[in-house]
Amino acid sequence: KDSKKDFLLKIHEESLELFHHILLQTTAGEKALAYLLKRGLTQETIETFGIGFAPYERTLLQQYLVGKDYSKELLSETGLFVEKENGDLLDRFSNRIVFPIRNQQGKVVGFSGRLFEASDFETGPKYLNSPETYLFNKRNVLFNFDKARPAVRREKEVILFEGFMDVIAAWQVGIQNGVASMGTSLTNEQIHMLGRITDQVLVAYDGDDAGIEAAKRAADLLIDQTDFDLAILSFPEGMDPDDFIKEKGAPAFKELISHGRDTLFSFKMNYYRRDMNLKNESERLGYIEKILTEMLTITSAVEREMYMKQLAAEFDISIDSLNEQFQQRFYKQQ
Ligand code: UTP
Ligand code: MN
Ligand code: MN
Ligand code: MN
Ligand code: MN
Repeated sequence: KDSKKDFLLKIHEESLELFHHILLQTTAGEKALAYLLKRGLTQETIETFGIGFAPYERTLLQQYLVGKDYSKELLSETGLFVEKENGDLLDRFSNRIVFPIRNQQGKVVGFSGRLFEASDFETGPKYLNSPETYLFNKRNVLFNFDKARPAVRREKEVILFEGFMDVIAAWQVGIQNGVASMGTSLTNEQIHMLGRITDQVLVAYDGDDAGIEAAKRAADLLIDQTDFDLAILSFPEGMDPDDFIKEKGAPAFKELISHGRDTLFSFKMNYYRRDMNLKNESERLGYIEKILTEMLTITSAVEREMYMKQLAAEFDISIDSLNEQFQQRFYKQQ
């Protein structure tokens, strides 16, 4: 006999099939499909990720599933519905392109739905996720973890994106070791999941303030939790990986991944100067102090000397003075 979990998984699978069918085979899905194709997604990618469309009509999924004899009690546990005051269920995802979210076994446990017409944006958030349910616990989910696993093992590295559209765009150009959290900051559970399959993480968050702050946070958490080898990709101001692939092309993206990565330290050097005016003397001194303090975390003398030279050249200070200052901090720390 099927357990509650089996039933809930089955309902998600059947919902996915309905949404996917509507997107690809019906006139109700035409606009959504046109939007995805215009964004550059191929039919194959839409199939691979099982992308679908939930139309405006808010009792469609409910009627479909009731027709398959699922009880209302079970349906209300899926998170796929919102309950009206009179107890009736309405489809949660309405007028949204829906992306299935899968667990580590590749089973659908939730959805994220995207509005795609400018005139609809006042009706809710751009992306709406399934709520926490018996099946879906955001803390434990990494988008694409199931499909990325073989590629992560092969590349000995996982790429951590901020948005799942970035994961999909990268996948489409052959970069298949990408995952993303579902719009929350990285959790211990997710770090643990990554640690089981690799010890190397490439952080590739959006090139805007929010993305850079989130990348800094993710990097600090990853370094704290386990001894991952970390590297960071930086994107031009305001661009995310998906934008980058579209604007600069797949070869440029692959080049960035193989030869354009920053070490954690040089990422931090850029990070700390973001809101500083280095033309101002005291801010310049503050910055140099900050970097020297940060340098205490570097164990390799060669690496330290490299950054020391960069710092010396940029601010026209002798290596000797920088070294002296560094030694003072070093002994103070001992
Ligand atoms: P982004 O806004 O950067 O998404 O949010 P994106 O991948 O670039 O999406 P497009 O290109 O506009 O379609 C990053 C992540 O934050 C979460 C989602 O998980 C998204 O992938 N998010 C964002 C939400 O949960 N809700 C929102 O309203 C927006
Ligand atoms: Mn390694
Ligand atoms: Mn963003
Ligand atoms: Mn983005
Ligand atoms: Mn984007």
